[in-house]
Amino acid sequence: MNDVQQLDELLASRLDQARRPVEPCTVVIFGASGDLTSRKLIPALYHLALERLMPRPFRIIGFARRDKTDESWRTELREALDKLSRTQPVKDDVWAEFASSIHYCQADISDASGYEKLKAMVAGFPDEKLRRNLLFYLATSPSQFAEVTAHLSAVGMLQKAEGGATPERVVVEKPFGHDLVSAQQLNGELTRFSHEKQIFRIDHYLGKETVQNILTFRFSNAIFERLWNREAIDHVQITVAEKLGVGSRGGYYEEAGAMRDMLQNHVLQVLALIAMEPPASLEAENVRDEKVKLLKSIRPMTPAQVAENVVRGQYFAGEVEGELRPAYRSEPKVKPNSSVETFVAMRLLIDNWRWSGVPFYLRTGKNLPLSASEVRIQFKPVPSILFNAQHGTRLDANSLTLRLQPNEGMTLRFNGKVPGGATELRPVRMNFSYDTEFGAYTPEAYERLLLEAMAGDATLFIRRDEVEAAWGIVDAIRNAWIGKPLTNREFYGAGTWGPFAADDLVARDGREWKNPQKQK
Ligand code: BG6
Repeated sequence: MNDVQQLDELLASRLDQARRPVEPCTVVIFGASGDLTSRKLIPALYHLALERLMPRPFRIIGFARRDKTDESWRTELREALDKLSRTQPVKDDVWAEFASSIHYCQADISDASGYEKLKAMVAGFPDEKLRRNLLFYLATSPSQFAEVTAHLSAVGMLQKAEGGATPERVVVEKPFGHDLVSAQQLNGELTRFSHEKQIFRIDHYLGKETVQNILTFRFSNAIFERLWNREAIDHVQITVAEKLGVGSRGGYYEEAGAMRDMLQNHVLQVLALIAMEPPASLEAENVRDEKVKLLKSIRPMTPAQVAENVVRGQYFAGEVEGELRPAYRSEPKVKPNSSVETFVAMRLLIDNWRWSGVPFYLRTGKNLPLSASEVRIQFKPVPSILFNAQHGTRLDANSLTLRLQPNEGMTLRFNGKVPGGATELRPVRMNFSYDTEFGAYTPEAYERLLLEAMAGDATLFIRRDEVEAAWGIVDAIRNAWIGKPLTNREFYGAGTWGPFAADDLVARDGREWKNPQKQK
């Protein structure tokens, strides 16, 4: 840390000091033998233990059908952690203490006796809070949510309380429905046995540091927020690009497509945080009220407007970073004539006072040239006088890029004079990098999300009306695609930035995509 950083450190303000410490808690993971548990949940919980953030005491129970003992499950989890842990090596002493709180409950999700067994296990825990403060993590298929919660309710482990005034909580993973109707149905099923305030819907993008920083950045600085509107901003681009293809997830992807897999949740969440109004307070309900309000202000599209404003794409064979990639239609478990989109780009308008007339261009896709998630705020150009009059349209307009991942940080672009006798102008950059400023500390999104769920703070989770509003937007678009197979213009080579139609979408408005750059 240099001198300036040390001085800045003195100005740091911790806002959550008043927050209650996380109460002792039992986390029960349903579907515990699935990949999510060993890949994400246990590594996240281990890191919370490593950073001494886990409640004391705590218990983790894996609920699954396969025959395992506490010991064999712990060994299995440790092997996975050795491979996947973001910090290496795994610390034996921390693991030993952590693992002693992990248990396995062998049971079938649809068998009532399994829940009695679970109840007996929990009843045997020594601390009263461990028996009462229960977090049920449903890492199962959504079709089992209702069944699990009904059983938990039947044995008295999950009580529905008005206002969520009981310590039991239910965490659910995406996909949360596949359209508005199924999401409403799922919500109906979940709220039969638990109150909305007890339900924590995960979107792992909200657990990312840089995504959380959007609100901090917008509402703790005076200089940007006053420019954050249609007066100053020409348009906004949100790109969530992935260089990986669909790979072994063809079966799932055939049902989802980029629209359901990425846009309905991650991309719209980023958009909501970028564009929402300041909340009345940082309380969960106030923040979520504003996000919902924003989603509801997005102008709905008729089928004709979908054709004009939304581009879908599917990759054919190509090369990404020198590696050959098969066409989507040749991936395992994908239909040879599939019309599922692996790319989507769109132009959205937000009908509110702040954003009226400012286009938001969103895009996401697989097998793109690189993996990067960025938001680019493109400011309006200066008037055509002085330097701009002489430079014509070549004078760069200011922009602010928020790099959500990788190379987390921000870049402000503005024009500067090239030193020398001639009046030469060119864009220069002001850079903020998380790594340089704070060191290479990038916790996994699940760490923060699990901690918040254990603490009972729902700010980083999706509320019912939010998920339904997002489906409303996506359904209108997907419905316009029904019965319309992809046309030639909608294919793109793996390793390119999507179909040409996506470029046309912005070019029609006299603009262009600014592709994320590979950082050295
Ligand atoms: C998941 C999607 O929700 O997010 C995946 O199902 C996608 O298809 C992933 O690859 C992207 O997450 P991240 O954190 O790697 O940007």
